[in-house]
Amino acid sequence: MNPAERTILTHGIWATKAVASQTPLPEDAIPGAGYVAGIPRLNVPALKETDAGLGVAYNLGVRKDGATALPSAMAMASSWNPALVQAGGAMIAAEARAKGFNVLLAGGSNLMRDPRNGRTFEYFSEDPLLTGYMAGAAITGIQSQHIISTIKHLALNGQETARHFGNVVITDAAARESDLLAFEIGIERGNPASVMCAYNQTNGYYACDNDYLLNTVLKRAWGFKGFVMSDWGAVHGLQSAINGLDQQSGEQLDPKVFFGSELAAAAASDPLYAARLKDMNHRILRAIYATGLDTHPPVIAPIDFKANGDVAQAVAEQGIVLLRNQNNALPLMASAKSVVVIGGYADSGVLSGGGSSQVQGEGGPAITIPGGGEGRASSWRSENYQRSIPLRALQMRAPQTAFTYRDGKYISDALAAAKKADVAIVFATQWMTESADVPDLSLPRGQDALIAAVAAANPHTVVVLENGGPVLMPWLDKTAAVVEAWYPGARGAEAITRVLYGDVNPSGRLPATFPASESQLPRAVIPGSDKNIPAFDRKEAVNQPLDIDYNIEGADIGYKWFVRTHAKPLFPFGFGLNYTSFSRSGLKVDGKELTASFTVTNSGARAGADVAQVYLTDAAGQATQRLVGFQRIELVPGESKAISVKLDPRLLANWNGKGWTVKGGIYRFALGASAVDLGTPVNASVAGATLKP
Ligand code: BGC
Repeated sequence: MNPAERTILTHGIWATKAVASQTPLPEDAIPGAGYVAGIPRLNVPALKETDAGLGVAYNLGVRKDGATALPSAMAMASSWNPALVQAGGAMIAAEARAKGFNVLLAGGSNLMRDPRNGRTFEYFSEDPLLTGYMAGAAITGIQSQHIISTIKHLALNGQETARHFGNVVITDAAARESDLLAFEIGIERGNPASVMCAYNQTNGYYACDNDYLLNTVLKRAWGFKGFVMSDWGAVHGLQSAINGLDQQSGEQLDPKVFFGSELAAAAASDPLYAARLKDMNHRILRAIYATGLDTHPPVIAPIDFKANGDVAQAVAEQGIVLLRNQNNALPLMASAKSVVVIGGYADSGVLSGGGSSQVQGEGGPAITIPGGGEGRASSWRSENYQRSIPLRALQMRAPQTAFTYRDGKYISDALAAAKKADVAIVFATQWMTESADVPDLSLPRGQDALIAAVAAANPHTVVVLENGGPVLMPWLDKTAAVVEAWYPGARGAEAITRVLYGDVNPSGRLPATFPASESQLPRAVIPGSDKNIPAFDRKEAVNQPLDIDYNIEGADIGYKWFVRTHAKPLFPFGFGLNYTSFSRSGLKVDGKELTASFTVTNSGARAGADVAQVYLTDAAGQATQRLVGFQRIELVPGESKAISVKLDPRLLANWNGKGWTVKGGIYRFALGASAVDLGTPVNASVAGATLKP
């Protein structure tokens, strides 16, 4: 590389269609999230980047045919099935190749610290082990297609309010044992070629300008060999290069292009910058060659929407969680005479989340409910529904039943129809989007009142939820059944229908605790949401100090917080019903090999899948609760399987400032049907050890 070539790969442009309409993109660029020029003289390909956590988001560029939307990340994690999530990643990456992209900005791995975070649906769970396994699987799938995957947003990027300047305050130990552990496991398992640093600050330093996070933890302690790209509009100065940032993304969104001529000049006069520049190029080139971007360039091709839709449907089917089923109200009988379907635009489509991860399905959205306003913010504030129509899928499944539809806008109208029908199915929605947190966990637009009224009028009321994350259910006791469908993706309606009619035995388990009220959460409100501080664009950011105190819960996120505060959630982490029953027995933990073995039996009458969860409840005298292993097991009626699960020693340990300390002593473990439904604990003797980070 000659000196002029050395800063080509270190910065890139924001390359959306809106940008392209004002400033022409380079000739070989395609509209997408980002573009980093290549070096043709050296056969180094350009990086063509699209968002893609839940499907290829920038998909109306080269071929205007849309892309296959996977269900939300919460839905994926509810499957507790890494192999399935890996298949989803491979599917997305194959679509990305067919659209000309070679970098996916996927792999959202922030832990759910607050269910009101507007990006909850983009993240997998509240638990570091589950999130790490899911992220690792998604990345493995993506990179199997010779596409660079990122893991994002490092780190502690837990809310949208004040996202460009909020400062997370947290101790090192708490961060290492929670959010950072999720990234550590995800990176180990998935080996992503790239990491995206976040917008927010942690302990006074911006994530993309953070020597501790990027150099000490990511590159030195974890041995990460790929490159760190910034989030779009997250770079604050040239010195970020010294603090571990390798590539400035979406440079028009920053005050300046720091990593172009400015970086070249610094490298020409300062050996520290020269060494860093060499390392930056080394890391980016290594990522390109390790993933095979040079030898396997994308090939524009049509998408097989049928085959890819099958993948999305499989994820939706395994991710749906049955939360309530009184007197076997489900499965529905295809012989029911009349069913009224109410609300949720169930006559048109299924809901999806907004922001940079928004996928335009084949043919574009079924319907869009505009959010108002202007510009980028306006499109991110519009609710989009995928073209998968619950009413039609139900009609096709049960042709003898008379289905009617009511939009649910007027309770009196819905009630009149509900009173006359054998069964009422209410589709309820909670829309979330990047750029805005939700103020509370209610179902907006009066849906809680609608459900309460319908359930009071019809004892066979089934609620199907299409939501980003945990919601409250003040009407729960009045309903016959509740089905958690999340944002169910391109074939959501078909998946929901198959669960409702028992063609699929639901096996999803909650990857997050559903609180009984917001007062049970560590913070009364999202920090900053009680002040008038816009969050969307960096230029809007008012740099008033705003601390976000994560030391309140520390590493005790979600179920761990509920154990600590003795609070009873609405639904616990790990919870989910199904149409058969399982027994779990014979738990033994080998404290030397760190394996848990046990037997699971399908003791009911239908084939189904259990998700066995192994929890640590006591670590050498320290009461705790941590998920230390899990396995999804498919069983036919009467079948038993002996299972052995490997336990990660870091989950038995505490962070000591330099590494992990496993205290020697007696450890107690229990098999769980959820985080609160635990079997009898067993003891295992574990030797003391110090583990390197
Ligand atoms: C988001 C990232 C995304 C990037 C590029 C940012 O606003 O935080 O998740 O990858 O935009 O679209």
